Amino acid sequence: MALDEKNFTRYLNRHEIDAAVQSIANRINADYKGKQVILVAVLKGAIVFVSDLIRHLKVDAEVDFVRLSSYGKARTSSGTVTLIKDIQIDIRDKHVIIVEEIIDSGRTLKFLYERLKSATPASLEIATLLDKASKRVVDVPVKYIGRNIDDQFLVGYGLDLEERCRNLADIFYLKYPN
Ligand code: IMP
Ligand code: MG
Repeated sequence: MALDEKNFTRYLNRHEIDAAVQSIANRINADYKGKQVILVAVLKGAIVFVSDLIRHLKVDAEVDFVRLSSYGKARTSSGTVTLIKDIQIDIRDKHVIIVEEIIDSGRTLKFLYERLKSATPASLEIATLLDKASKRVVDVPVKYIGRNIDDQFLVGYGLDLEERCRNLADIFYLKYPN
């Protein structure tokens, strides 16, 4: 598929993204002051967000990753989510924050939230850079939200279109994603 530049409209520039990341970091720094926190980032989309987020954190933080089945070539999430890569850190009695770049139907996070909850962490919260709340199909308790967004397909800053565009520093709205 050819990606035509005229189909990309800038949605958030790097300064707006950084402000959203900083605001989440400020809240985490306040809420977890004096505590240790484990960030569980969701591969691959959250790599850019989590790497910026941790550099704004002043609390004692560890990072681990999970990988879940994703959209693949389709652009609507399927009902079933499967775990492709699990965390390596033992999260029992630890303060855990799931780090995701965008929440759409909520299915992916619901699955991950339930799974991590069963490992009995001391606390479990969710941080997402972007939230498409109007698209929610299942309920998930999201504590930290960078930006609420409309139902649009976005790329850049880790967000992909069929594995491409993750490397863009800004976030773009893709007008004709086909
Ligand atoms: P959910 O299970 O429907 O909430 O899907 C969440 C996942 O779908 C995210 O982690 C992203 O990987 C992907 N996703 C949702 N919306 C977008 C988008 O606008 N651009 C790129 N990926 C998206
Ligand atoms: Mg993701």
